[in-house]
Amino acid sequence: MDISEIRTKYLEFFEKRGHIPIPSAPIIPENDPTTLFTGSGMQPLIPYLLGKKHAMGDRLVNSQTCFRAMDIDEVGDNRHTTFFEMLGNWSLGDYFKREQLPWLFEFLTKEIGIPKERLWVTCFEGDEKLNLPRDNESAEIWKELGIPQERIRFYGSKKNWWSRAGEPENMPEGEPGGPDSEVFYDFGTPHDAKFGAECHPNCECGRFLEIGNSVFMQYISAQGRSASGGKQTVFNLLPKQNVDFGGGLERIAAAKNDNPDIFRTDVFEETISLLEHYSDGKSYDDSRYTRSFRIIADHIRAAAFMIADGVRPSNTDRGYILRRLIRRASQHAIALGCAQGQEKENELVRCAIIVIEKYKGWYTKLDGEEVYETISREIWQEEKQFAHTLEQGTKEFEKMTTDNISGEQAFMLFTTYGFPIEMTLEMAEAKGKSVDENGFRALMEKHKDMSRAGSERKFKGGLADTSEATTRLHTAHHLLLKALQIVLGPQVKQRGSNITSERLRIDFSHGEKMRPEEIKEVERIVNEKIQEALPVICSAIPKSEAEKLGAQQEFGAKYPDMVSVYSVGPKGATKENPQFEKAFSIEFCGGPHVENTKELGSTFKILKEEAVASGIRRIKAVLM
Ligand code: ALA
Repeated sequence: MDISEIRTKYLEFFEKRGHIPIPSAPIIPENDPTTLFTGSGMQPLIPYLLGKKHAMGDRLVNSQTCFRAMDIDEVGDNRHTTFFEMLGNWSLGDYFKREQLPWLFEFLTKEIGIPKERLWVTCFEGDEKLNLPRDNESAEIWKELGIPQERIRFYGSKKNWWSRAGEPENMPEGEPGGPDSEVFYDFGTPHDAKFGAECHPNCECGRFLEIGNSVFMQYISAQGRSASGGKQTVFNLLPKQNVDFGGGLERIAAAKNDNPDIFRTDVFEETISLLEHYSDGKSYDDSRYTRSFRIIADHIRAAAFMIADGVRPSNTDRGYILRRLIRRASQHAIALGCAQGQEKENELVRCAIIVIEKYKGWYTKLDGEEVYETISREIWQEEKQFAHTLEQGTKEFEKMTTDNISGEQAFMLFTTYGFPIEMTLEMAEAKGKSVDENGFRALMEKHKDMSRAGSERKFKGGLADTSEATTRLHTAHHLLLKALQIVLGPQVKQRGSNITSERLRIDFSHGEKMRPEEIKEVERIVNEKIQEALPVICSAIPKSEAEKLGAQQEFGAKYPDMVSVYSVGPKGATKENPQFEKAFSIEFCGGPHVENTKELGSTFKILKEEAVASGIRRIKAVLM
């Protein structure tokens, strides 16, 4: 049975039982700034689990695309993926355990045909300290359904309690959660004593796979007082008793196949064959390569969905995770012998196309020429950029002859060559070296604090103050950006700025180190514009008009309908007749600026040009 058949059967089964199908939300959460990705089916439904009325009713069903970044390092074994589909059904204060557990049992055993002898279940054993009762009712229901006592196990809140924050004690105030009952499939593989004397559903030896989780979302956490009067989290009943069920689609398929390897489900079949072909016949079953096959297959599927939802590779937040996925996949493609330096085949793009073809019938956001091109282009570009820096970065890495890579060295590999720390760790491990990861993280924090302090000043246009000297450098900054675009190409965009009375700093997108003659030419143009004594004019115009004029925007800024723009030149331009189309430079900007470039007076000089992050350069310059 393939995944689309299981998905359809699931939706139809619950539709027949009064559930309304709702679409999968994007993996980039809408209206939820607390988290980067949608990691479970319930996440988009939180307001309704807390009591708000859902327009589609009290019984909902869907298949939700999920991404769990924290599982990246687990990918490579036979069961973990970063991206997966979660089959979900919800009761928003409607039915409860008595309906949910028998339906789930019926779906798994009758609809899908999983033998009931292979199913084990777990229930919440309660937590006296937190005043949370044992869930005997679920255990009774399972028994009535024919699961014998020995296959019903009780666990505490570490295993049989579910909230987004995990255990009850970790739940912030106002978070919903509750006890859960999980269903496990028993593959019958021999127990490995390394994981403990006795095998049981939550044992890690690989015999059991969790295929479904019914959460009885009954509680909301609040601040209360313990018996001794101290502060303690308490759990109040929600106004409605909800059910939140989630089951991994690929895992249910693996159980149905009676094969614990989820990479052997139809989801990954074609990708694996393609990689076997590109790797010159290396086999997925050869244990030296299995991990690489799995990492590529998982990461490219996740990357395709992420790009379809609007994420682009970058060095922060979601963009960083996407970059890490593509680069890690690329690294493993090299390990398989697929990709040879820059002469490489486009095997990762081909893997992404397989994903598109597999899912576009169901997830329409993957259907269409534009998304096809975007996914292919983003993966291809990132891979190419990576191939380019990989070679140089690897050379640098090879030069690090000590057994311990310092935090500074790892940070340099990150900022100059775009090596995610995880990659440096893997490369070091392969060579038997260690990495000062804490040192690296400390430098990253410092770097983030600095860029945060930049962005805090964004409202003043990156200016430290509004003194005459700072104002002059601010106008020079505008001339510099335009000169960079003339010399390096119009694709150059400002990515950050910081201006003090001593110097200006600009961060801009550009893939490589500037050549000395390029730096000279940029200086020459700026100085020429100072000499030409061009008027600097401030105008308030509609945003749409400013955009039409190609005015430069501050990176990441949002603008109102009417905006202020500063244009430099041409000679003779006035506030009444700014002659935008003949201006040398035009930017969205709140000022302040000099009135004429001749006020800059002295010579403009670039002091330093360096990398700050992959694809981002930084210039420091002064007026001397
Ligand atoms: N929300 C539950 C989970 O993610 C169903 O496991």
